[in-house]
Amino acid sequence: MIEKDFIPSAYNQTITEGKVSYKSPSNIALVKYWGKKENQLPQNPSISFTLDACATTTTVSFKKLDKLSDNYSFDLWFEGKVKEDFKPKIVTFFSRVAVYLPFLKAYHFTIETSNSFPHSSGIASSASGMSALALCMVALEKQLNPEMNDDYFVQKASFLARLGSGSACRSIEGDIVQWGKHEKTKGSSDLFGIKYPYVVHDNFKRFHDTILLVDKGQKQVSSTVGHNLMHNHPYATQRFEQAHDNLDKLIAVFKSGDLKEFIAIVESEALTLHAMMMTSMPYFILMKPNTLEIINKIWEFREKSGSNVCFTLDAGANVHVLYPENEKDIVFQFIKEELIAYCENQQYICDRIGFGAKQLKMNA
Ligand code: PMV
Repeated sequence: MIEKDFIPSAYNQTITEGKVSYKSPSNIALVKYWGKKENQLPQNPSISFTLDACATTTTVSFKKLDKLSDNYSFDLWFEGKVKEDFKPKIVTFFSRVAVYLPFLKAYHFTIETSNSFPHSSGIASSASGMSALALCMVALEKQLNPEMNDDYFVQKASFLARLGSGSACRSIEGDIVQWGKHEKTKGSSDLFGIKYPYVVHDNFKRFHDTILLVDKGQKQVSSTVGHNLMHNHPYATQRFEQAHDNLDKLIAVFKSGDLKEFIAIVESEALTLHAMMMTSMPYFILMKPNTLEIINKIWEFREKSGSNVCFTLDAGANVHVLYPENEKDIVFQFIKEELIAYCENQQYICDRIGFGAKQLKMNA
């Protein structure tokens, strides 16, 4: 597939009004995406576990306009309230995807969206939010072109989600999703995420991710700024190569079930991501003292207990604690007894691997 393949030919149906709704999850990267080229294309491949509990539900009601709107005509509701300050993000998204969704100016949209997690939790809602919106738009397009097949539907939703927020393209379908061209992964593409196509050992089925909310405030540096700081970054070339190497290693680990090697790759990726931030110009630090306290506690506990618990980080201070299903009781007890004290207001979210977005049935 190339970009042009996502530009539709004329639609064969006319739809005057309707409603579509999707619930789309967040995801946590194991090999991280950090650094992009033009048009939200990644500098290196990334791979993630799809989450289950952290999700966005979006409903788009649409009504055909008498004439095309000059700009985009829409209202935005977030958790039951009109949310003007989210609108510029949607306008940017619409203008990036307009060529692939030529009906965008022909309708008025009412977009109602809500998250399963608190807005000020430091959990980015861009992956779940942008994937849910992209899915609603492709679902509308499918009404205009009922012949669209399921594979194309999923690819196009991921392709559009990527144009909203890179990591959002990994939130459409599958429990493990890879985004970015990689020699060893058949079907991989920079344009959209794909369901991981190879064998995955039972050790990784039903994996847990308990998200420790260390800092619920707004990040000081957005990921957009962070990605851009990888241009002319002194370690960029090696970092992008390392991501390919780590992905190779992870493919072998998914097959063998080697949890010790999994831990080594995942924790190294998390710390490398933050090392890139600390070595950009300007430099910045998103970890907080409690992030480090938690990391040290996890290392101590692992040493003492022989557990396969590990951590990863996204672009913030929160810690994702990852552990296999057969260790859930001992690890969760450890989390409650030793880690929760480091969370803001002792808050955490119990999540685990999920399987992707779901369409919600609309009442007539
Ligand atoms: O999707 P963005 O542009 O918000 O970037 C996300 C980057 C990380 O979460 C730090 C890593 C990743 O691969 O998800």
